[in-house]
Amino acid sequence: MQTDGSNASSFNHADGRKRTVCPDAALPGVRTNLARRGLRVSHATDELSDRYVRLRHQTEVLIAPLGAEDMVVQSMPDASPAKWHLAHTTWFFEAFLLSIHSPRYRVFDPDYNFLFNSYYEALGPRQPRAQRGLLTRPSSIDVMAYRRYVDGHMRKLLRSGISAETEDLVRLGLAHEEQHQELLLMDVLHLFSRSPTKPTYDKEWPVDAVGRGGRFKGMSGGPFELGATAASFAFDNECPRHTTWLQPFEISDRLVTNGEWITFMADGGYGRPALWLSDGWTLVQSESWTAPLYWLQTPEGWSQMTLRGLRPVETDAPVRHVSYYEAAAYATWASARLPTEAEWECATRAGLLEQVEEVAWQWTQSAYSAYPGFRPAENAAGEYNGKFMVGQMVLRGGASVTPAHHSRLTYRNFYRPEQRWMFSGVRLARDLNQSGDSSELTAAESDFAIDVIAGLSAREKTLPPKYFYDATGSELFEAISRTPEYYPTRVETALLQQSALEIAAGIPEGAVLVEFGSGASDKTRVILDAAPQIAAYVPIDISEDALEKAAAAVSRDYPKLVVVPVAEDFTGAIRLPAAAQGRVKVGFFPGSTIGNFTEAEALRFLRSVQQLLGDDSVLLIGADLVKDEATLVAAYDDVKGITGRFNKNLLARINRELGGDFDLNAFDHLAIWNAELTRMEMHLVSRANQIVNAARHTFAFKAGERLHTENSHKFTPKSFADLAVQAGWSVSREWISPAPQFAIFSLAPEGSTPFHVNRRKN
Ligand code: AVI
Repeated sequence: MQTDGSNASSFNHADGRKRTVCPDAALPGVRTNLARRGLRVSHATDELSDRYVRLRHQTEVLIAPLGAEDMVVQSMPDASPAKWHLAHTTWFFEAFLLSIHSPRYRVFDPDYNFLFNSYYEALGPRQPRAQRGLLTRPSSIDVMAYRRYVDGHMRKLLRSGISAETEDLVRLGLAHEEQHQELLLMDVLHLFSRSPTKPTYDKEWPVDAVGRGGRFKGMSGGPFELGATAASFAFDNECPRHTTWLQPFEISDRLVTNGEWITFMADGGYGRPALWLSDGWTLVQSESWTAPLYWLQTPEGWSQMTLRGLRPVETDAPVRHVSYYEAAAYATWASARLPTEAEWECATRAGLLEQVEEVAWQWTQSAYSAYPGFRPAENAAGEYNGKFMVGQMVLRGGASVTPAHHSRLTYRNFYRPEQRWMFSGVRLARDLNQSGDSSELTAAESDFAIDVIAGLSAREKTLPPKYFYDATGSELFEAISRTPEYYPTRVETALLQQSALEIAAGIPEGAVLVEFGSGASDKTRVILDAAPQIAAYVPIDISEDALEKAAAAVSRDYPKLVVVPVAEDFTGAIRLPAAAQGRVKVGFFPGSTIGNFTEAEALRFLRSVQQLLGDDSVLLIGADLVKDEATLVAAYDDVKGITGRFNKNLLARINRELGGDFDLNAFDHLAIWNAELTRMEMHLVSRANQIVNAARHTFAFKAGERLHTENSHKFTPKSFADLAVQAGWSVSREWISPAPQFAIFSLAPEGSTPFHVNRRKN
């Protein structure tokens, strides 16, 4: 056989490009996307002729290292002799193209239709698959003559100008031959592995790249468009593209390594029925499997049969030649699972995965079946894929033996779960629960990490606004309060001052003032100055530092006041100190922070405050009111860009605290008025398609995609009163500032008689 060039040069491993294989048992009858587009005249014949010649030649390059005897033997029913591959791929062009589309074509030898038909019932009976190795005749020389004969006629046909449908069949024939190129290498490896001398197929055949093991990357769930479109060549089984739903998941960016597999073996992986699917366990026992196919224990350790002959197992290279059963057992052992093919395609499209097609096909947990709307062609080519859609599992990616450019993102390879002579490897996946919480996260994982993973995994990305307030965020908020545009702090303080005496009139002698989220206790002083009857002050704030400082300052300035700070998240469960017992409690919640809650959070908060403060309590609460859009938007998008910095500080905090790699310049601050929901919204808008890592997860942002960071609900006196009533309070008084309008409401538990009403009566 003639040869030129390296056998390996046009395969995936060597150049990092793509390729694919379909099991011969499953080979056959594809209807392509292009064929469905109706009658066209092909203009691609030059390109197609060139490709035809190169690809057919490449098959012959692959058999260059083989002797005549190597080409005849069939080492197992699943494998075919090299000579059979050479003839069968040629028969495909003869049977599907020349015999039909070349009017004066005469078949090379009428017996070949029986000898080299693989599984096309429509094209007649055939040599049994398991007996292909009995075909000592025709000789290899005859088969090469067959190739020359068909190639000559094919070149003529391609030169003559062909219809688009014929072109599609040629492309199918070429894809088919690429599949057989991979099969040929698989079959040679199997054949040589059975030889006691463990021959080398190609001593230059590249070794698999070594490297680190996998890291899990998180992906949000939601709708996903799975499958190929009609834009370019694809097998019929990749179509039609359709919407499927993904739950949040994480997927390993790399394949399981030999070293990891050795640990699995050492941990009794092949001997523990609990790890195995029932059929797999039966097979492990009947076949006495203790390691991947082609592994041999030698005095020096594990060796592996490769196309370079017997080589030591490289612990840092991906494991290959494992069955679905072994892959699934390993995944169970590793507290993970295999990805679905939709998860695989989604993560690959997002650019999250490495080792996609250079080393080994990756088992998925998806059964090989028809996509919704799939229809096989009615002619013989319809037998190519559709009739194999039972009892097999899908593998995705590509392998070192897949011809370059053969595979693609949507490619569905498939094998039976027990097969393992193909180059099959393992990529793990895991569920993320609905809140985005990884099964691996422990109680030690911070709430911040959990909320970030959940928020960035959501279909509409979002983060809770409470994470704005680290030290920098709190400073930036103070700075916002001083901008001319941000009126709420200024207006509320002025309103408190103007209404102080009236507010104080509603506070009974000896009351305790309980402030939620007290910060620097600035506004509190307005109340304390006007209501000296207040006996005790309980500031509640999560920031211990700020709390201690503020409490000390208030104690100093109001010496008669009992000050008992409580360092807690005021939205959580709170216990009031003993100093508050037996006194009327006056709650204080200024700043319109209630506007940052969802309605459910606001109701929960208001109800829990009532429980905490008791039936005779008062709650003073500040709330911003609905007003014209320009004033609102300016307040959340100041000209100096301080609010933008405040918004982006959330990303900086994720970078710092959760090992994130957000590029702050790759996001824009956006403040918009949502009239329907009467709220200001802040978002961060991704300037480009980008991938971001944080909290050990990876998140894909599309250009223009928004990360929703805050809502600031604005109220009307009526909407606020309605909210209060739903939570068991009623508004007993309200003070409203001149424009820009802001309100302070005094609430009393519904059904109680507010203190100031009482007093007036007395
Ligand atoms: C704390 N909170 C009431 C402020 C607000 O107006 O919603 C936070 C803020 N966000 C942007 N600017 C200020």
